[in-house]
Amino acid sequence: MKEHKFTWFREFLERKSGIVINQSKAYLVKSRLQKLVEKYGVVDLNALILKIKQQENSVLADEAIDLMTTNETLFFRDGYPFVALQEHVFPEINQNKGTSAPINIWSAASSRGQEAYSIAMTACEAMPNARQRVKIVGTDLSAESVAFAQKGAYSDIEVKRGVSMPRLNKFFRPVGSSWVVNDDLRAMVSFHEGNLVSDTLVTQMRRFGVFDVVFLRNVLIYFSIEERKRVIDRIARTMHKGGYLITGAADLPEGNTSKWERVDVQRQRIWRLC
Ligand SMILES: C[S@@+](CC[C@H](N)C(=O)[O-])C[C@H]1O[C@@H](n2cnc3c(N)ncnc32)[C@H](O)[C@@H]1O
Repeated sequence: MKEHKFTWFREFLERKSGIVINQSKAYLVKSRLQKLVEKYGVVDLNALILKIKQQENSVLADEAIDLMTTNETLFFRDGYPFVALQEHVFPEINQNKGTSAPINIWSAASSRGQEAYSIAMTACEAMPNARQRVKIVGTDLSAESVAFAQKGAYSDIEVKRGVSMPRLNKFFRPVGSSWVVNDDLRAMVSFHEGNLVSDTLVTQMRRFGVFDVVFLRNVLIYFSIEERKRVIDRIARTMHKGGYLITGAADLPEGNTSKWERVDVQRQRIWRLC
């Protein structure tokens, strides 16, 4: 791949998705985009990048961006966010708004859906009326991941990464070689494409209401420091005052114009919007 083509692609990717690819990661672009070279029948990666440049708003461009996302995820990832929901966030909402008030939660880089379904399982275990009260919206830039999450069907290996046997029996049913999320849990969650770096994100998310809780985990790490701040400020504008932001362990919303109070759960931080 020619250097100027790589430079253009890096700039394009960051502008469209926020994802920053280090100068030393040409191999990553090569290996991930190779399948599009074959699919679109172009001679090589340089020709593919030229084609993307000529049609920045095309299916090809979206596919290239999708291939550059890292969709690694698992059920109940890192444990403490779900403990925080159960032990701190839900009791506080119940106390402040009453035990039948609706609860609106956003999984803001939902990947293949495990995070959103883990939130739904936690809610069902925490509150007997969760199925009526709790709505979870999952969004992701990757159309492929959103389509996967919508199906709610996971392999044996995927459910073994985080789902205990009692939860598997309670919330999933076996269908062929997959484990499918039960309909009542599925009905609590909806998935949509959504780009965290889009200027219209706040308006787009308004159609789902104002959020009490936002999960923004293991995605800011791919963005520049400036973009992280912009994303957190956008997200603050979609939330109720007193709502909770649950980030990855390394992501601090400090230095943003929105104000956050730190709350420690199992020695990890979650953030309350002031
Ligand atoms: C590593 S996964 C994290 C999934 C989940 N939040 C977790 O912690 O397990 C990162 C996800 O961020 C998504 N992503 C990357 N850039 C994005 C953007 N600009 N807007 C929305 N999602 C994005 C990727 O498609 C990917 O599914």
